[in-house]
Amino acid sequence: MTGKIELHYRFAPDVKATGRDGNRLTLDIEGWKALSFTAATPAHADAVEALAGAGATFDRLKEIATGAGSRADGQKAAAYYAERFSRARLLRWDLVDDSGVLASVEPLTAGYRPRTEALPEQPLALCRFAFLRRTPDGMTLESGLTRAQMRIRPRGMAAISQALAPADAATPDIVAGLLWRLGFFDVAIPQEDDNRSCWEFHDLLMHETSRFNRDLPGGANYRFEGRIPAPPAAKPAMPGARIELPPVDPAALRTSNGSIDALQERRRSIRAYADRPIALAVLAEFLWRVARTTAPPFGTGAQQLMSRPYPAGGSINELEFYVAVRRCEGLDPAFHHYDSHGHALVRIANTQKIAAEIVAKSASAMALQPDQQQPDLTIVVSSRLPRLAWKYERMAYRASLLHAGVAIELMYLVATDMTLAGCANGSGDSRLFEAATGLDRLEETAIAEFCLGIPAES
Ligand SMILES: Cc1cc2nc3c(=O)[nH]c(=O)nc-3n(C[C@H](O)[C@H](O)[C@H](O)COP(=O)(O)O)c2cc1C
Repeated sequence: MTGKIELHYRFAPDVKATGRDGNRLTLDIEGWKALSFTAATPAHADAVEALAGAGATFDRLKEIATGAGSRADGQKAAAYYAERFSRARLLRWDLVDDSGVLASVEPLTAGYRPRTEALPEQPLALCRFAFLRRTPDGMTLESGLTRAQMRIRPRGMAAISQALAPADAATPDIVAGLLWRLGFFDVAIPQEDDNRSCWEFHDLLMHETSRFNRDLPGGANYRFEGRIPAPPAAKPAMPGARIELPPVDPAALRTSNGSIDALQERRRSIRAYADRPIALAVLAEFLWRVARTTAPPFGTGAQQLMSRPYPAGGSINELEFYVAVRRCEGLDPAFHHYDSHGHALVRIANTQKIAAEIVAKSASAMALQPDQQQPDLTIVVSSRLPRLAWKYERMAYRASLLHAGVAIELMYLVATDMTLAGCANGSGDSRLFEAATGLDRLEETAIAEFCLGIPAES
């Protein structure tokens, strides 16, 4: 890094050439029809031409656009073209020093452009929504708040590091000012409004990046096809004693259960439990009605699909259901996997203590007091995320949480229909699931919990 550091505005690489005939300019843009327009003055046309190649600073663009005219007119023209071209995503911005480019900024949405107003007087620091990470094309600065990415060249890292940790906080750092213009720095003590204060770093990042808010590849693009095998519909059997569950008679259910409207009217979160425990046949019916696989795995492509009683994106059904049993008539306390294909439970050895811990966590999530009866069991919903991510890019975890929500509503309705005490838990500890199953959390991890028992006699 040498000499002064500036922010250059320049055309994006898709702008292949700029032609000029008097004040008439023509941009040759990849994938577009030629874009022709007439600048108001020769100086304005000069400023547009200055965006080709290495580009120029915004101040320089204003100067060029001023020419022999008024400064106000030059400023207005530079701002106009910066706005118009950024709206069409035709601009890029480079941090440059005397030796060349230190970092380049790419917009991730139409309309992104650097701030041009006066710098704040307060000290500047990395915005609390911004972060640096390594991507295939180098070090990248991003932010949940800013729809742009900055690729930092190795030479640029020194300038950025200096801005991140200034030797003398009292002296304004040029790069910090430019990073503020680009949306990655903020005043060191920001006055956030109430709405912004409520957003945490990870919430905003996940929201922004797991929806189509940014022009990045994503969605159902099967990006791992041919690279890694799709995990099968039926997960490898968990080791442990297999407990075949009593079959459920769907015909009998159909004559007994109430209308959806009546169920919704009656549905409540119930956190008070009877002295008598839930019975295995009742648990079996609950699992069958919520989580069984309704047909053998199907699908003609490289990914096996399957159906469950609740809907699931792409029919992939990455969720698995486990039962942490504290007490259940006919079933030993332990952590069990529900084999949704075979309607059976698999008891995972030596998990009685951990099952009790999972239920105790649920009790505390429901603010139960030590003298109150704890739930009989906690249904732990896990996600085999790679199964979903094999098809969906950027949105797999989001989709899994949506699926857990869908399953929770079904659990509530089935619990209501069966006169059981059901209550979802918003908090849980996936480490207990890891300890109980020994599974690699990147292969499968717990994402939701739901408690069950017999309601206390009122
Ligand atoms: C996703 C989700 C998470 C929840 N987490 C908890 C929880 O951790 N503890 C709790 O006592 N209730 C929890 N609940 C239950 C809500 O408190 C309850 O649904 C709400 O108060 C409305 O009452 P109702 O379900 O009886 O209509 C949760 C509900 C949902 C859907």
